[in-house]
Amino acid sequence: MAQQNLLLLPGDGIGTEIMAEVEKLIAHLNASGQSDFATDTGLVGGSAYDAHGVAISEEDMAKALAADAVLFGAVGGPKWDDVPYEVRPEAGLLRLRKDMGLFANLRPAICYPALADGSSLKREVVEGLDILIVRELTGGVYFGEPKEIHDLGNGQKRAIDTQVYETYEIERIARVAFDLAKTRDNRVHSSEKRNVMKSGVLWHEVVSAIHANEYKDVQLDHILADNCAMQLVRNPKQFDVIVTDNLFGDILSDAAAMLTGSLGMLPSASLGAPDATTGKRKALYEPVHGSAPDISGQGMANPIAMIASFAMALRYSFEMVELADKVEGAIASVLDEGLRTGDIMQDGCKKVSTSEMGDAIIAKL
Ligand code: NAI
Ligand code: MG
Repeated sequence: MAQQNLLLLPGDGIGTEIMAEVEKLIAHLNASGQSDFATDTGLVGGSAYDAHGVAISEEDMAKALAADAVLFGAVGGPKWDDVPYEVRPEAGLLRLRKDMGLFANLRPAICYPALADGSSLKREVVEGLDILIVRELTGGVYFGEPKEIHDLGNGQKRAIDTQVYETYEIERIARVAFDLAKTRDNRVHSSEKRNVMKSGVLWHEVVSAIHANEYKDVQLDHILADNCAMQLVRNPKQFDVIVTDNLFGDILSDAAAMLTGSLGMLPSASLGAPDATTGKRKALYEPVHGSAPDISGQGMANPIAMIASFAMALRYSFEMVELADKVEGAIASVLDEGLRTGDIMQDGCKKVSTSEMGDAIIAKL
């Protein structure tokens, strides 16, 4: 087994507590011959600011660029509310995304049967749900120029944001979505608003062309983003992979995520372009949730989103699909046995701490 290189960036708040569970898990997998990971650890966010006055040091940034994959915990909190804008904790994550060229954000929404009653929707609508939203992360209206506010001088102002997409940006995100669909249920919904947006017209045209030329064997449907939002709430199981732009993806992925119940359960991945020689993509894996300052340092955090993010790294960066299945299966089985951290607690279940949850998952492996 070739040695794999992982950089751990726990961050601050509960980031350090949940990353500790992944470290235990990796140590177990290495010791039992199921993996051969070499891990290194760096500082990001509040922890980097406290140590070096930056959001991430150049040394740790270089480590992130050299690693086979980065696992990121969480950053932020009231302690750093007053630090300068460029070195605030969130700047560390933005720098990583930018310098690693992470343009594809993968947000799975999986509803574990044991937690289906925690959803705001009926059990039959969400039980067994397994969808993947692929959001374009580096283009669109969040970054397009011009982006400004003008004073019109008559007591009025005008604010402008600009949605910009070029062909190559749509092509590369479409390829990520189609490739992922092939490993799943082989279906993609592409979502935009071509009825009112030029960028939606181009999006539709480019995704259709990539499909016709390279992925005819994958089923492609186009869906307007507002209808997609409705369908996600009405009948989410009709979807397999949804590919969409930065803005719609931000909103649709948060909506889809909440169908499953808890923030503490949700992993994500961000991928870059394939390397010209090795074909490997730069990748960062992180829970969807933040640093949860309200519960940090108390052993209450749910480590499952972080552990499930590590499982995504196994699947997408290391092609260790069987081990990824095994880790996800271990999560499902501890939930079936009724173990719960506070955030997902239900009547008749056993409340456990962060480390007890981690230990129970490891015991299944
Ligand atoms: P949050 O996700 O940290 O917390 C929201 C609520 O969910 C809190 O009540 C928290 O206790 C709970 N929660 C979150 N993760 C949990 C877990 N694993 N187990 C149990 N309960 C959990 O979002 P919030 O409160 O809006 O932000 C807190 C800080 O985190 C802010 O500084 C924010 O900027 C930062 N943040 C960082 C992100 C990142 O590092 N990628 C993402 C989102 C927020
Ligand atoms: Mg969001």
